[in-house]
Amino acid sequence: MPEQTMESPTPEAGTVGDALLVVDDVTLRFGGVVALNEVAFEIRRGEILGLIGPNGAGKTTCFNVMTGVYTPTSGEIRFDGTRISGGKPHRINALGIARTFQNIRLFPEMTAMENVMVGADARHKTSVPGALFRLARVRPKPHELPDNQIKAGFAKVFGISRHALEERAGRRKSMEMLRFVGIADRAHELARNLPYGYQRRLEIARALATEPKLLCLDEPAAGFNPAEKADLMNLIRKIRDRGLTVLLIEHDMKLVMGVTDRLVVLEFGQKIAEGVPAEVARNPKVIAAYLGEPDDAAQA
Ligand SMILES: Nc1ncnc2c1ncn2[C@@H]1O[C@H](COP(=O)(O)OP(=O)(O)OP(=O)(O)O)[C@@H](O)[C@H]1O
Ligand SMILES: [Mg+2]
Repeated sequence: MPEQTMESPTPEAGTVGDALLVVDDVTLRFGGVVALNEVAFEIRRGEILGLIGPNGAGKTTCFNVMTGVYTPTSGEIRFDGTRISGGKPHRINALGIARTFQNIRLFPEMTAMENVMVGADARHKTSVPGALFRLARVRPKPHELPDNQIKAGFAKVFGISRHALEERAGRRKSMEMLRFVGIADRAHELARNLPYGYQRRLEIARALATEPKLLCLDEPAAGFNPAEKADLMNLIRKIRDRGLTVLLIEHDMKLVMGVTDRLVVLEFGQKIAEGVPAEVARNPKVIAAYLGEPDDAAQA
């Protein structure tokens, strides 16, 4: 059952502050393009780590190798002590990494609630015995009874299927997620009819519904005005305060400085700096990368 990429845990697995995810000298080539060049950094348990760098630096590509979209040409990625590079996206998600996309990817013809339930469903195993088991009827507990009087009476006499119970629990959980990200007022609207800011938050709710340990956000505040950005940064802090670790790609330097514990800076597929925000902001290489100055000017 284990894929060839999944190994036994290493001593990295542990408590708050130690490495949750390790990018170990990862190189990724697309033909002649070196999208990532021996990139190495770690994400520590419980932190908000910012991943920044100019356009085309390799930030999204980094997410893609971490989530199983691409397999590194060389190097490896370990999550919670398990090698994940080369693993399938759904396996990696099941281990506890969820992401959002730079370009929103929702199911436009589903409601907000249904989009989140897709995330929650990803937690359920789908085996034949499991499916049969879920058809079995059980006697519901008082709080599990349907709101509708007639249905509740029926359920008391004939029981209720585990499937129905799970579905009800999934709905309740999805609604909690929508409330948590601040969009519960439009839970039953089609995703495509939601305002842009709601769609961005819905993507986060769907990712959270998979109950990840690490949440990776690819420019979640793109297209937001300053007030919306500030609100979103508060949401990111709230997510961390729930015990999750967050990796954030964000272009707005001021914003990213205010919310992150540490930063990793990429340029042309290489890591050029790493550290606490104040330190990174003073780094001449980083200043040069953002101002577009020649690299030798940065060495001075
Ligand atoms: N599937 C692919 N095939 C070929 N080249 C790719 C592919 N995906 C990414 N690249 C290249 O890898 C480099 C890094 O791209 P990436 O999208 O990771 O940058 P980014 O830092 O996310 O930029 P942005 O800030 O614009 O989102 C670019 O040169 C890009 O053209
Ligand atoms: Mg990108």
